[in-house]
Amino acid sequence: MNSDQKSGREQGCEDSLFLRALRLEATERTPVWLMRQAGRYQESYRKVREKVDFLSLCHNSQLAAQVTVQAVDELGVDAGIIFADILLPLECMGSGLRFAKGDGPVLDNPIRSAGDVERLQEFDVEEGLGYVFQSVRNFIAERPTVPLIGFAGAPFTLASYLIEGGSSRHFDKTKAFMYCQPEAFEKLMVLLTNMTIAYLQGQKQAGAHCLMLFDSWVGALSRHDFARHVLPHSRRIVKAVSGPTIYFGTSCGGMLDLMSEAGSTALGVDWRSDMAAAWSAIGHDRAVMGNLDPCVLLAGREEIAAQVDLILQQTGARPGHIFNLGHGILQNTSQENVRFLVDTVKERSQALRGESRTIGMKR
Ligand code: CP3
Repeated sequence: MNSDQKSGREQGCEDSLFLRALRLEATERTPVWLMRQAGRYQESYRKVREKVDFLSLCHNSQLAAQVTVQAVDELGVDAGIIFADILLPLECMGSGLRFAKGDGPVLDNPIRSAGDVERLQEFDVEEGLGYVFQSVRNFIAERPTVPLIGFAGAPFTLASYLIEGGSSRHFDKTKAFMYCQPEAFEKLMVLLTNMTIAYLQGQKQAGAHCLMLFDSWVGALSRHDFARHVLPHSRRIVKAVSGPTIYFGTSCGGMLDLMSEAGSTALGVDWRSDMAAAWSAIGHDRAVMGNLDPCVLLAGREEIAAQVDLILQQTGARPGHIFNLGHGILQNTSQENVRFLVDTVKERSQALRGESRTIGMKR
């Protein structure tokens, strides 16, 4: 390697703990970042939100990069995730997205018929979502050594918002649509898949180092329905974007083996699964991310540290574990506890590596 190449590499983040763990390389400690690390639990975020509403914040590439940087700096995490939302592309499709106070997302034009699917607008991602690509470039300009995760909602999770018209508990409308109008549902999934591929490729081109596919609600499906209606689309996305990817869902303990067939570099695991058992089901040729219950952050330090230890013991210093929560940080979480969690993961995982080396030497 000549000196120019070396300095280029040192300036970038290919050798970061996060990207090394995704490549299943041994690391001196477990890398850690947290879903929703930028959010309302932070005082600095609430300050920004006093001046702009949520969607305007997402649309503003300078402010979006700023809150992404703030989270990384305040917590000392090993990766950033670009500040945006999985529902932003649905705005461009004419769904009438808005965030109602206290109610979460609302889509004023839900999909209830095959005709509604036909009426969804196709759009150019650069035109509709170019502001997210600009946020990515802004973050990288400010923190060139921090790996940045780009992301998108997976087709099933996006379809559920489009069909339900917002959040849901049982996903009954979504499933009824899937069973009663399978052709229209398939058409919708293909449309969302094509859009998601273009959107993720745009984020990658802008410089994102890893791409995450949020299929937050896919755990509502049976294995059979997942394999039939969802997996082919997720697989197509992962294949099309190439490079490091994370496929994430919640309540998916019973189908992690199927989810791993989508081919992502890593899988997200939530707290309902035992991490050791989950990793076996996924296969040790993949990286895993997780899996602390976000509610543990509402407890005291002793409980947090004990639960961190448990997860680290379950992963056993095996290369390829990225520490995270099983779902996003809750709004009523104290930032002190979040910082304590990150510090604890760093310290304990490093100490555990030392211990396993010493035991290895004694043997
Ligand atoms: O650091 C980060 O993770 C920030 C980027 C980010 C947000 N949303 C910001 C956000 C990411 C990666 C998401 C993903 C997202 N959005 C998912 C997948 C992950 C998951 O939680 O399952 C989903 C399902 C959404 C949809 C969504 N966005 C809902 C249901 C809500 C309302 C609930 C809530 O927490 O308010 C949002 C709003 C949202 N997205 C907020 C943030 C910081 C809160 C908005 C505010 O500031 O008022």
